[in-house]
Amino acid sequence: MANKMLYGGDYNPEQWDEEVWEEDMRMFRLAGIDCVTLNVFSWAALQPDEVTYRFERLDKIMELVRKNNLKVVMATSTAAHPAWMAKKYPEVLRTEFNGIRRKFGSRHNSCPNSPVYQKYSAALARKLAERYGTCDNIVAWHISNEYGGECYCENCEKAFRVWLKEKYGTMEALNKAWNTSFWGHTFYDWDEIVVPNLQSEHFAQDRTTFQGISLDYRRFNSDSMLRNYLGEYEAVKAVTPHIPVTTNLMGFYKPLDYQKWARYMDLVSWDNYPNPTDPPALVAMRHDLMRGLKQGAPFMLMEQTPSVTNWQPYNLLKRPGEMRLISYQAVAHGADTVMFFQMRRSIGACEKFHGAVIDHVGTEHTRVFREVSRLGAELEQLGGVTLNARTPSRVAMLVDWDNWWALEYSAGPSCDLKYLDELANYYTALYDKNISVDIISTEDSLEGYQVVIAPVLYMTKPGTDEKIRRFVSAGGTFVTTFLSGLVDENDLVFTGGYPGKLRDILGIWVEETDALPAYMKNRFSWNGKEYESGVICDIMHMEHAKALASYEKDFYEGTPVLSRNELGEGRAYYVATRSGGDFYADFLEMVLEEQNIKPVFQPRAGVEITLRRKNGNDFLFFLNHNAQEEKLTAENPGTDLLTGKQYLAGDDIILPGKGVMIFKENLS
Ligand code: GLA
Ligand code: ZN
Repeated sequence: MANKMLYGGDYNPEQWDEEVWEEDMRMFRLAGIDCVTLNVFSWAALQPDEVTYRFERLDKIMELVRKNNLKVVMATSTAAHPAWMAKKYPEVLRTEFNGIRRKFGSRHNSCPNSPVYQKYSAALARKLAERYGTCDNIVAWHISNEYGGECYCENCEKAFRVWLKEKYGTMEALNKAWNTSFWGHTFYDWDEIVVPNLQSEHFAQDRTTFQGISLDYRRFNSDSMLRNYLGEYEAVKAVTPHIPVTTNLMGFYKPLDYQKWARYMDLVSWDNYPNPTDPPALVAMRHDLMRGLKQGAPFMLMEQTPSVTNWQPYNLLKRPGEMRLISYQAVAHGADTVMFFQMRRSIGACEKFHGAVIDHVGTEHTRVFREVSRLGAELEQLGGVTLNARTPSRVAMLVDWDNWWALEYSAGPSCDLKYLDELANYYTALYDKNISVDIISTEDSLEGYQVVIAPVLYMTKPGTDEKIRRFVSAGGTFVTTFLSGLVDENDLVFTGGYPGKLRDILGIWVEETDALPAYMKNRFSWNGKEYESGVICDIMHMEHAKALASYEKDFYEGTPVLSRNELGEGRAYYVATRSGGDFYADFLEMVLEEQNIKPVFQPRAGVEITLRRKNGNDFLFFLNHNAQEEKLTAENPGTDLLTGKQYLAGDDIILPGKGVMIFKENLS
């Protein structure tokens, strides 16, 4: 793709007069920008009516960027349809969750099941490929933009029935899967099925009376958009099979099953917009999810703001040094590009207050531009040394979108139970210990891992239990929590005792589940320390497992809260409650020690340290999230790639506040 990390971002020259373009080129050179994402929202300009296409302006832009040696990520412009299309074919408009059909406006506004949208989005993608496919500076196709949202229109309803027919074949199978004998919902004809929204099964976005249909609608909606993506994917691939294709993802974005999507993406890219209050561990977890989508392959950081967003209630500026730190954090977790939204700040509409490399003042004399330029120079100097480096991990965390949807659609046991919170609890404890974690799907292989953690693995899909059983028997450590193993892929409970198919692996039987409101807590002690218990308390019996700790209060006082089961060469832990950070830290310390898994570097609070490896070279990324300087001690000799400074083992490593170091270890 390139011999250094691509550096640049969304560039919208179509919003500006041509005199400005040359000035942009001068500024890009100053800042070390070498890549622009073009054509993200230009459909209306490219296709003024149903039969006319106009590429002259884009031709000029392409000529300009080519002359200036810029690489191009070429978007297909289909994330916002033209107004004429909405007027002529109202079917392209979405219908909201409440049943209201939208009028023209906004973006990400097309019904994924509109034949008109499907036809014209693929047609535009194909025309772009035909026109620009020979430009050798195009490094990737960027299909649409941040696919998302949902639609509940009549076309979607019809397509949903077709999707269901394909999935279930017969009404009997569907009735069984949805358990429709509950509340007299038996269906006799596919046409009786309507979309599950506020007009039918739902009483709020995340509250449904029929989990089966709502779960399938989520799958269907994700698949529908995936089909849109594939329509364009195939269109560009037919013309330019050699150009990799991506679409920009959004981390843990609930509506779309990215693990399924990634199978159809040549490379993963994503947009990183943390809230100012997000701890660095959460941002790291999102990067690791993105890296895990394609079995550890590096990803593109497609967008981030150089300074400020416009869409949060309070849009805090990134403090001096923060943009650089956050950029390297992405690289530390597997990004091979550093890109921004956007290059020049718009003068009108809702993003006029969104940060950009070139601000409204229009000159290079801004703090943000100076910081962008400094990073540009650094990336230039760094070259391609870390490109395509991998992240070796002995620990995996299982994440599953169906599990997420099904768990959070369930009425009960607690409205405080959120899948991402439980993932974050375990992830953060590992992050704090400088342990690399691969975030993988239940479809992925567990080979090569020593510890697999599956917080709230509520749904056990066919084959998952057997995979875990084999993993443990062969010597692995499996950790899971309360409310795991309960249901099958249709969200139907396995009868015969929780945790269903995981029961023999864990060696326990869970009889009841208590959901504590925030004002109620239980406690337990383990290895001489006291820990908190709350939110969920599973009440369980030991079958083959050994109890390691017990509840200290309530009618289940003295019953186990933490258990270990030996199975074959390995073991499986069940954590029956939500505890606090101190527990996760101590518990995982033991789990890691048992498997002899070492941190990539001795931990220091507030200093994130990750490892990427390439051709036998180890690159340690030191990221000081603290405002103050930190002093560490080199464990091996090595070189800081950003300054060229050499270190011997035992030397002081001084990291300034918010500072970064990429330390290439000399291991002989
Ligand atoms: C998203 C979009 C961009 C832009 C930014 C603003 O990531 O893809 O078009 O709107 O948000 O933060
Ligand atoms: Zn629709």
